[in-house]
Amino acid sequence: MKEINLKKLYLEYFESLGHVIIPSAPLVPENDPSVLFNTAGMQPLIPYLMGEPHPFGKRLCDVQKCVRLTDLDSIGDKTHHTFFEMLGNWSLGDYFKNESILYSFNFLTKVLNIPIEKLAITVFAGDNLIPKDEVSAKRWEQLGIKKERIAYLGSEDNFWIAGDSGPCGGDTEIFYWRSPEEVPKIFDPKDDRWVEIWNNVFMEYFKEKNGQVHELKNKNVDTGMGVERTIAILEGKTDNYLTSIWQNALNTLLKITNLPYEGNEVSMRIILDHIRTAVFIAADEAGIKPSNTDQGYILRRLIRRAIRHARKLNIDINSDFEQQLAICFIKEYQDTYPELAKNQNIVLEVLKNEKEKFNKTLEKGLKVFEKLTFNNQQIDGETAFHLYDTYGFPIELTVEVAKEQNRTVDLEGFAQKFKEHQEKSRTASSGKFKGGLSGNSIIETKYHTATHLLNAALKKVIGEDVHQKGSNITTERLRFDFSCNHKLSEEEKKQVENLVNNWIKQDLPVEKLTMPKEEAIASGAECMFIEKYPDIVTVYQIGDISKELCGGPHVEKTGTLGTFKITKEEASSSGVRRIKAILSEE
Ligand code: SER
Repeated sequence: MKEINLKKLYLEYFESLGHVIIPSAPLVPENDPSVLFNTAGMQPLIPYLMGEPHPFGKRLCDVQKCVRLTDLDSIGDKTHHTFFEMLGNWSLGDYFKNESILYSFNFLTKVLNIPIEKLAITVFAGDNLIPKDEVSAKRWEQLGIKKERIAYLGSEDNFWIAGDSGPCGGDTEIFYWRSPEEVPKIFDPKDDRWVEIWNNVFMEYFKEKNGQVHELKNKNVDTGMGVERTIAILEGKTDNYLTSIWQNALNTLLKITNLPYEGNEVSMRIILDHIRTAVFIAADEAGIKPSNTDQGYILRRLIRRAIRHARKLNIDINSDFEQQLAICFIKEYQDTYPELAKNQNIVLEVLKNEKEKFNKTLEKGLKVFEKLTFNNQQIDGETAFHLYDTYGFPIELTVEVAKEQNRTVDLEGFAQKFKEHQEKSRTASSGKFKGGLSGNSIIETKYHTATHLLNAALKKVIGEDVHQKGSNITTERLRFDFSCNHKLSEEEKKQVENLVNNWIKQDLPVEKLTMPKEEAIASGAECMFIEKYPDIVTVYQIGDISKELCGGPHVEKTGTLGTFKITKEEASSSGVRRIKAILSEE
C-alpha cells in the first residue's frame, strides 16, 4: 500500500466517525518557541487540549509533518527517521477510552485487515496519581484481544507527555508482530519483534513546570500512528527504507552511486533521510535557511551530513545528486503538501548553495587539519573544537579523517570545549532540542501582543507591504522577521518605538473575535500563511490599529506591556529584516 492511500483511508475512516480533517500545521511551530519543530500531531493542538474550544469542534484528525531530533544518532538503522508523518485523531472532551479503542481496533482489523492474532496491547499499570487502567484492558478483551496479549506497564512506558510539562496522561499502545517467526501466545513487551504502531493517550492531566499535576478541564484523547512504520508492516518489510515510500529516491540513489544497497545501506539511509528532512524544512512556510542557530543549524547539519555520506559512497559531489533526490521527494509528497511544489526552486537552491559552501569549507578544513594535527597521535579537544567552530568540521568528520590516519580524537575534551562554548554564547538553548511546551507565561503573553503592535507600527513607518515572515518569543525578548529590503534608519526605528509605546500608553483593548476566514481576510486582518488556517479563525483586534489572525494568547489591554525597545535590527535573509525587542517595566 502506498503511503498516500494509507493517509486517505485513515482520514476517510475518521471523517466517517464525525472527525473534521484539519491540515498539517507547519513543521516550525508558529507560537511555541520552546521547540524547534513539531514533534507530534498533538503539539499544534495544545491550547485545545487545555480547554480552548476548537473552531472545528471536538473530533479532529490529521496527518502532521514532524521532525524529531532525539533520534538523530540512530539514523542509519532500519527504522528511524528524522522527518516522519504522524496520523492522529483527537477527542477534545468528547469520546474517551471505550470509543477510542474501538475506533483504533476497527481501523486496524477491518480497514487495514490486520489479523487480530498479530496484535498485542499495553495499558497503564497506574501510579500514585492515576489508577490502574482496567477500563482499557477490559475494552480490548471485549473486542477479542486475549488476556495474555495485554500487558500492564508503568509510567516509564505508558504515560505520555511532550517534554517536561503540558497536557499528559496514561496511554494504551498497540503492538504488531513484525517477524516471519510464529507469533508467541504470550505477549512479552521486551521482545523487540513486537513493534508499537499506535499510541492512544488519555489526556486528562496537566503537568506544571514545577512538577505539580492538576486535572484538565476535559478528558481528551490524543492518538498517534507513524506512517513509515505502518507502511512497512503493511508491505511486510523489516527495513522501512525498502518500502514504497522510498522506492523512487532509493532507485535514483542506486543509479547515482552504481553500488548495491547491501553493504552501503547505512550511508544510503542517512542520505535519503537527511535529504528528505532538509526538503521539508527548506520548503516549510517559515522560510528556514541554513545558518548557525536554531532550525537553520539543523538544516545545515542535515545537508552537511548527507554530503559527507555521499562522499563516502564516492558520489561526485559537484554533480546535482542532491537535486535529483530532492525532486523524488517533492514528487512523492506534493499532493499532500502543496508547499513542496510551490517552494521547489527555493529548496533546490538551499541544497545547492549549502553543498557548495560545505565543499569549500571541507577543502580548507582538510588542509588545516593536516597542519594542526601533524605529528599528534591524539587530536586534542581544543583542536577538534577549533576545526568544528572555525571550519564547520563536524566532529564525526574529524574522527573519521583521524581514523584514516590511525589517529584518535579526545572526544571528552571536545565535549567539554563544546559545552563551555555553549554556556558562553547561550545560543539555542539545549532544552529546545528535546521537545517541550511553551510556557505562555505572563511575560510571553505580553510579547505576543507587543509583536502585533510592532507589526502594525512597521506598516505605518515603512509601508503597507511590510508582512510578517516569522516570529519567535522567549521570556526575554521578541524576535520578528518581516519583508523589507532596506536597513532601518535610526529615525525609522525611533518612529516605530514611539508608535508602539504610544499605543501601549493609550491602554487599548485587545479583543478576541471568531469569524469565517474569508470574512477575516476581507476585513483586512493580517496573516502569515492563509492556506494553513481553518475556515473559522480567531482574530485578535487591538483598538483600531491592528487586526491579525492568531491563536494567542494575548493580554486584555495594552497598558500592561511596559516600555517597548528595539535592541537589534539586522538582515535575516534576502528581502527580510529581523528585529529583536524587549519590554521593560520602566
Ligand atoms: N502524542 C502521542 C505520541 O506522539 C500520541 O499522539 O505518540
